[in-house]
Amino acid sequence: MSKILVTGGTGYIGSHTVVELQNAGYDVVIVDNLDNSSIQILDQITEITGKKPEFYELDLCDEAATVDLIAKNPDISGVIHFAAHKAVGESVQKPLKYYRNNFFSLINLLTAFAGREVNFVFSSSCTVYGQPDKLPVTEEAPVKRAESPYGNTKQIAEEILVEVSGANSNYHVISLRYFNPVGAHESALIGELPIGVPQNLVPFITQSAIGKRGPITVFGDDYNTPDGSCVRDYIHVVDLAKAHIAALRRQEEAKMSGNFEIFNIGTGKGSSVLEVIKAFEESTGVKLDYKIGPRRAGDVEQVWGDVSKAENELGWKAELGLEDMMKSAWAWENYIKEHPFN
Ligand code: NAD
Ligand code: WQD
Repeated sequence: MSKILVTGGTGYIGSHTVVELQNAGYDVVIVDNLDNSSIQILDQITEITGKKPEFYELDLCDEAATVDLIAKNPDISGVIHFAAHKAVGESVQKPLKYYRNNFFSLINLLTAFAGREVNFVFSSSCTVYGQPDKLPVTEEAPVKRAESPYGNTKQIAEEILVEVSGANSNYHVISLRYFNPVGAHESALIGELPIGVPQNLVPFITQSAIGKRGPITVFGDDYNTPDGSCVRDYIHVVDLAKAHIAALRRQEEAKMSGNFEIFNIGTGKGSSVLEVIKAFEESTGVKLDYKIGPRRAGDVEQVWGDVSKAENELGWKAELGLEDMMKSAWAWENYIKEHPFN
């Protein structure tokens, strides 16, 4: 079975993808500098799959170390590149931190595979669409001017990948544009580990419910949506993880048209902030304390994906709904209360 390099593999989406890769029979090599994750995740993955992934603590911004690692692993046939900084607000405060990390890591990785055949799956984001003119948004929709340096790193990274795969036919690149990943593995042994006050809705909900935070603020109820709160396409992280396997299979079976493809990865269904709160309460039986506050700067009003391309061409479809997302996120929050991570 082929060997897959997972950068950022101890992170939130990376760890779930490592589990799915191992379950599918792949050998996995993780590279992570543990900037936003814990080494303990390796033991958690091992507990789920019974197989410890190979791990290298390495900063992908270190070109020599990255090139050396790839050279020493000639049997790596595919890369799933998760490693990046991802906090939208922080990227506005510290743009260079984002441009440096997200670009240098990508460029070093591509450099390390020069002259070698490689299947490359990139973590992109629905953030590239901004507020789309038409919903659901398709992969053909124009990319809007980025609202943040973080969003800009995803747009430019896609351009870099188009150009590099255009110039070198040995790079087979699939960019997955994730909508809003939430939830945790059904074992509750891995999940999202936000550092500090969570900026994202679902980790804030679970931390508020467990008493770690105060009431939730709904950022605006005066949008032009059915209940006035913003609408997003929330996707279970395990469904999202499986989409990466489908992308790799497409590359391995040489089914790609050309060397660069983009897929939306969502459920195709929009849910409002108030619906998410209700789904959490109904699926867990835990009452939430929330209040309506002002709009958050930079938020788009509503976005959900047209996921028919992924269904038709990747043969992948999200299977889990909001209830599974909320229940699993809540089980994980309870798990980390009992088993705190370093
Ligand atoms: P995460 O922070 O949990 O995981 C990223 C991992 O990469 C972390 O473990 C971090 O330590 C590591 N890392 C960062 N820079 C590195 C470097 N220079 N060298 C080595 N390791 C490095 O984030 P996540 O939520 O799992 O996101 C994974 C990817 O998906 C990111 O590229 C992110 O931009 C993208 N994405 C995330 C979301 C989301 O809402 N979580 C949505 C769309 C796209
Ligand atoms: C969801 C909804 C908020 C917190 C971000 C990035 C995006 C992508 C996914 C990486 C919004 C509302 C939130 C709260 C709230 N990441 N909200 N109260 O903003 O859709 O997307 O993560 O690529 O690039 O921008 O996700 O979870 O922050 O917000 O009312 O305390 O919840 O206004 O409508 P977002 P989110």
